[in-house]
Amino acid sequence: MKKIPVWMDCDTGTDDAIAILLAHALEELDLLAISTVCGNTSQENAFRNTHGVVGLTGVDYPVFRGAEKPLLQKLEFATAFHGENGLGNVELPIPEQTVFRAEKAWDALYACAAAHPHELRLVATAPLTNVATAFVKYPELPHLLHSLCLMGGSAGPGNITPAAEFNIYIDPQAAEIVFHSGVKLVMFGLDVTLQEKLVEDDLDELGASGSKAGEFAGACLRCALEGMKRYGINGVSMHDSCPVMYLAHPELFDGEEAGVVVETRGSITNGKTVTDLYSDKQFPFKNALVMLKVDAEAFIRILKKRIVSIE
Ligand code: BDR
Ligand code: CA
Repeated sequence: MKKIPVWMDCDTGTDDAIAILLAHALEELDLLAISTVCGNTSQENAFRNTHGVVGLTGVDYPVFRGAEKPLLQKLEFATAFHGENGLGNVELPIPEQTVFRAEKAWDALYACAAAHPHELRLVATAPLTNVATAFVKYPELPHLLHSLCLMGGSAGPGNITPAAEFNIYIDPQAAEIVFHSGVKLVMFGLDVTLQEKLVEDDLDELGASGSKAGEFAGACLRCALEGMKRYGINGVSMHDSCPVMYLAHPELFDGEEAGVVVETRGSITNGKTVTDLYSDKQFPFKNALVMLKVDAEAFIRILKKRIVSIE
């Protein structure tokens, strides 16, 4: 079986951590590297957390540092869901032999895409600052990639504001660059990611699995679960695992081609991904496959099975 080459760009982040573990554990995928960006937490925390998560896999995946702030907007973190350190306040040790790379995320990503022309799948589970920076610095990159599968946006309501989803809201200028870049784009917004969730029993099950990765998942997701409970929701969506799962199991998802534009000026709607999915008036282009449906039962079943399979 030819494995699918994958690069992940993350603001690690509790559900980013699970998505990285899933990318490692899905045998259809060949995870090549991970880059980090500010978002759920600082660049520094995301970089350190990613090394800790990589330590759980036992494979020395290269990790590259990216942006420390959004292109124009001020820094903002999601501490209420991801804790002070980004991992629900669970501290992961960094393996002793870890090599901290100096090369910047965008340069390393471009080199990797050039080495795998039209094959590399970029998965972005964070604000799009690193991806936009790479696309501006290397204008051929959007066409050198196979595709970009991103967690972000919503055709319906938002989460960080009534209009906008967190990843797009944090850096709407970056998202605008990416949505207009011509890259083959698959969008996993709240429309689809909120259909699946891990409930308390799932976290208990992961915690009692006897696997280090399962125990970590159970512990680090508690903080996000408590955050969701404050909104009356008894479960935590694995937003960032959706694009990863899709690459190995596209049959679990359904979507529609749409025109998508990012609002960057609205005082109420800043960061909204405006789609023409439900309007008579259509944009003169279709620039994204917008995912709208997931087989939630199969998604959660495979996710749990793969996480506890990590030795
Ligand atoms: C997205 O924002 C972050 O909190 C999660 O990691 C996910 O990428 C969900 O809106
Ligand atoms: Ca994330």
